[in-house]
Amino acid sequence: MAISDLALIEAWKDVLTLSKLTAGEQVCLLVSDDSNPQLVATVRTAVGQLGGVLTILHLPPLNGDVALSRDKSGYVGHTALKGNRAALEAMKHSDLVIDTMLLLFSPEQDEILKTGARMLLACEPPEVMLRMKPTLDDARRAGNAAARLAKAKTLTVTSKAGTDFRCSIGQYPVLKQQGFVDTRGGWDHWPSCFVATWPDEGTCEGTIVIDTGDILLPFKRYAREPIRIGIEGGWIRSIEGGFEAEYLRSYMESFNDPDAYAMAHVGWGLHKRAHWTTLGLYDREAGLSMDARSFWGNFLWSSGPNTEAGGTRNTPCHMDIPLRGCSLSLDGEPMTIDGKVIPEDQK
Ligand SMILES: [Fe+2]
Repeated sequence: MAISDLALIEAWKDVLTLSKLTAGEQVCLLVSDDSNPQLVATVRTAVGQLGGVLTILHLPPLNGDVALSRDKSGYVGHTALKGNRAALEAMKHSDLVIDTMLLLFSPEQDEILKTGARMLLACEPPEVMLRMKPTLDDARRAGNAAARLAKAKTLTVTSKAGTDFRCSIGQYPVLKQQGFVDTRGGWDHWPSCFVATWPDEGTCEGTIVIDTGDILLPFKRYAREPIRIGIEGGWIRSIEGGFEAEYLRSYMESFNDPDAYAMAHVGWGLHKRAHWTTLGLYDREAGLSMDARSFWGNFLWSSGPNTEAGGTRNTPCHMDIPLRGCSLSLDGEPMTIDGKVIPEDQK
């Protein structure tokens, strides 16, 4: 369903107010040729009404000739900022950067954040943004989960489908996504609500079973049969099953990059207005599928880059795979059981 400009302007004002935008702050709006025009138009009005000093930076598209899809997360790591010092300096001198083109996973994003600029990624369809508009209650749940994750030493996941996975954690920072960004040098994503971290190097072991109905991103498809992922020493060593496994293997092989097989972020979804079903109702090119990444109680695991966590793996191949029905524990304490969030302070 279409969303009125007025509704989206009001939503932007709510999210920018949660993001502590104040009059006179320097706001850089980053757009590219595939940015959503309604998001761009409405945020301009909202920033203006809140007194922000706006600069719009329009960068040319990149990677269209090497990516295998139009999904913004389908080819990551190398952005239009590479070699563009003028654009990079503009963002480094901003208080708030609103990213509608997806700089995530790029070394340049890290460089911008280190200056103290805060960044908000926003590139889902307007009606999804509105349905999943962040609240302080989302931030409370994500904050409580992140605090537990920051203290934990081991993360384990099991499922009735056969997942039996474990890793040590603590080497890399916690990733908390709550939908708005209210801290200096912080990064966040509207719409989202989940927590994750990156496993300690070399410690991932076991099996992850992607069951029928689980979601593969950026394929934006529900698995139609199980896929067994064998993991040793932090790396994916085998991908077994039928057609689904063959497709995943071939896709990953096409990048010809050993780093594609590294285990990346692991965590769980906490968004109560995100739905497992939404993916089946949308055109694949409509957005990033943040419903899938953040629905309440999922186990979201991923492969490939770790530049977002301060690491050096900058591979463009990044799979995000949210699973249903998993039981995830930190140091033996359940965070989810059979896909349901357990701690009261995350409900
Ligand atoms: Fe990811």
